[in-house]
Amino acid sequence: MSEIRLSSEKRLRLFAGRGFPELADEVAAELGIPLTPTSAYDFANGEIFVRFEESVRGCDAFVIQSHTTPVNKQIMEQLIMVDALKRASAKRITVVAPFYGYARQDKKSRGREPITARLMADLFKTAGADRLMCVDLHTSQIQGFFDGPVDHLFALPMLANYVGSKVDRTRLTIVSPDSGRVRVAERWSDLLGGCPIAFIHKTRDPRVPNESTTGRVVGDVQGQTCVVIDDMIDTAGTITKAVDSLFEAGAEDVIIAATHAVLSGPAVERLKSSRASEVVVTNTLPISEDQKFDGLTVLSIAPLLGRAIREVFEDGSVTSLFDGHS
Ligand code: R5P
Repeated sequence: MSEIRLSSEKRLRLFAGRGFPELADEVAAELGIPLTPTSAYDFANGEIFVRFEESVRGCDAFVIQSHTTPVNKQIMEQLIMVDALKRASAKRITVVAPFYGYARQDKKSRGREPITARLMADLFKTAGADRLMCVDLHTSQIQGFFDGPVDHLFALPMLANYVGSKVDRTRLTIVSPDSGRVRVAERWSDLLGGCPIAFIHKTRDPRVPNESTTGRVVGDVQGQTCVVIDDMIDTAGTITKAVDSLFEAGAEDVIIAATHAVLSGPAVERLKSSRASEVVVTNTLPISEDQKFDGLTVLSIAPLLGRAIREVFEDGSVTSLFDGHS
C-alpha cells in the first residue's frame, strides 16, 4: 500500500447567528438536524465573540443569518462566524443570507458613491465564504459581485401561488411599483395565467433615502384586482404610494406582495392605514408581534431554504426547485 485511504462522508452542519433564531430553527427542522451549538456574546463596547462548541473540521457548513436591524451587527456576526469556520477547517462554507443587506446599493447613481452590495460580497469572500445563498436579491446582477457560486432563490412561486389561490384571476392585474421590476411582474403574470401587467412611473431623488415620488399608473387597472409586488417593504413609502395611485386610477382592490418585510420606522402604520386589503410577505426577516396587524400574511421561507440547502449539499440542482417558475 502506497497510500492511506479514507471512506470519507460529507457532513452537513447548520450554524445560526443571532439575527433571527426562529427562522434558523425552522430551517433546521426542515433538514431534520439540530443547529450546531454556538456561543455568541457582545463585549461591553459592542465587539462580537463567537465560538462553536463542537468540532467543525471537514464539514459542509451553512451559516444562516438574517440581516435584520441592527443590520451592521448581524452582518459582522456572520462574517465572524465564517472566519471562525475557516480557521476551524470547515471544508466548505456557505453564507445563507435570506435578505442580503445593502442590496439596494448595487451601483453608483452619482459620482463618489460606494457600491456597498459589492463590498458585502468581497467581505464574505475575504472572511472565507465559498458560496452564497440568498432570496430575491434586489437585482440579479448582484450574483456577479461574489467570486464563487451564488444560489439565488425566488419567493415568487410561493407568493404567486398564495395570491393566485385567493383572487379572481380573470380580473387580476400585476403591478410593478416602478419600471425596474416589470420583468418580475411578467414572471408573476406567466405563473398566474398571463394576466395583464401595469407599472407605476416612479421618480426618486437619489440624495434622499427612502423617499420616492410616485407618478402615474401605466396600464389599465380600472375595476381590476391589483397585486402590487416589490422585493422589499422598508418604510412602506413606495408601496403605499403605489396603492394610492392604483385606487386613484380606478382599481377595485389592491393586494401588496413583497419578499422582504424590513418594516422600518413608519412602515407598519403606513401599511395599516393603506387601503390595501392584504399585505403578503415572507419571513426572510423577523416580524415582531407588535408589527403584526389584521390583513398581514406571513409565508414561511424555511421550506425553500431547507430544500435549497439539501440540494447544494447533495450536489443536486437548485434550479430544479424553480423549474417552470423562473
Ligand atoms: C427600491 O428600489 C426597492 O425595490 C423598494 O421599492 C424600496 O427600497 C422600498 O423602500 P420603502 O418601503 O422605504 O419605500
